[in-house]
Amino acid sequence: MLITGESGTGKELIATALHGASSRRDKPFIKINCAAIPATLLESELFGYEKGAFTGAVTSKPGRFELADEGTLFLDEIGEIPVEMQVKLLRALQEGEFERVGGIKTTRVNVRLVAATNRDLQAEIEAGRFRKDLYYRLAVVPIVLPALRERRSDIPMLAQHFVDKYNRRLNKKIEGIADEALTLLQAYAWPGNIRELENLIERVLLFADGPSITAKDLPEPVRGGAGVQAGATMGGSLGTLDVPVGEVGLKDIVRMKAAELERDLIVKKLDETGGNVTRAARLLQISRKSLQTKMKEFGLRDTTPDGQDDGPDE
Ligand SMILES: Nc1ncnc2c1ncn2[C@@H]1O[C@H](COP(=O)(O)OP(=O)(O)OP(=O)(O)O)[C@@H](O)[C@H]1O
Ligand SMILES: [Mg+2]
Repeated sequence: MLITGESGTGKELIATALHGASSRRDKPFIKINCAAIPATLLESELFGYEKGAFTGAVTSKPGRFELADEGTLFLDEIGEIPVEMQVKLLRALQEGEFERVGGIKTTRVNVRLVAATNRDLQAEIEAGRFRKDLYYRLAVVPIVLPALRERRSDIPMLAQHFVDKYNRRLNKKIEGIADEALTLLQAYAWPGNIRELENLIERVLLFADGPSITAKDLPEPVRGGAGVQAGATMGGSLGTLDVPVGEVGLKDIVRMKAAELERDLIVKKLDETGGNVTRAARLLQISRKSLQTKMKEFGLRDTTPDGQDDGPDE
């Protein structure tokens, strides 16, 4: 299965749910984030290695394919896999067999593979960065997750779900969301999708003191969206915004469009640098720290491994 969708639309959640609902649910669910593993280590991570395969390989070790035997292997951010590895992956998928790095014995496994990406794989194929044959092998069952702005009617239910979740977690007793606040939540563009909604509800709950969440509890970008719901094209980068003039202030529209543009540019630069925050920040001519703050604000995930720098600061 291949799950595609923008960042924060719930790809990992769906992958986990697929496993939980399958007949393999009592078997392992192994996940690997291809973007977080250096290309040189990916092969040994996936297929394992034999003792002495390379300097430092003092014992042999099974890879994720072996660990997932009879269960599910979730390959997250599959679009980041280098082309050489794509060939090996395709063979493993097609034949169900592979060799550990430095090994001669062929290992057979039975895994269900679920892959996810927020990249446009068709475009990657055209650019020669993704193999067509691997794509067809992965996309036997394609699952396309819509952006939150394309499923606005789900916002009240999701928002209430997060209110309940963070009430429990933060020991709060917020009952719900006032109608005017819900309208604003439904009008907002949600560039960071469900992750952004979840982060927002958590933040709002932390500071809210009333019995329910009202419009004034919502942060500025969301409040700025008042009235822009009907007919507004929030999706693309700088598409036309056909909002009836007079209903929404110019300032609000400019603010929303600026936020959208900002997010689009950040996503683009992160994409170009393969998620390297330091390099993306340099291209955008802002500090690494403010890029990270903005990514958080937009609900974009920082794939830099915890506590590690993702590159030298020149
Ligand atoms: N339908 C949903 N119901 C409740 N929570 C959801 C739902 N979809 C996503 N979430 C929550 O939103 C957050 C983001 O989801 P997830 O990590 O699965 O997104 P993703 O598509 O994998 O994002 P990325 O491309 O950035 O990795 C998670 O905290 C997840 O629990
Ligand atoms: Mg994910």
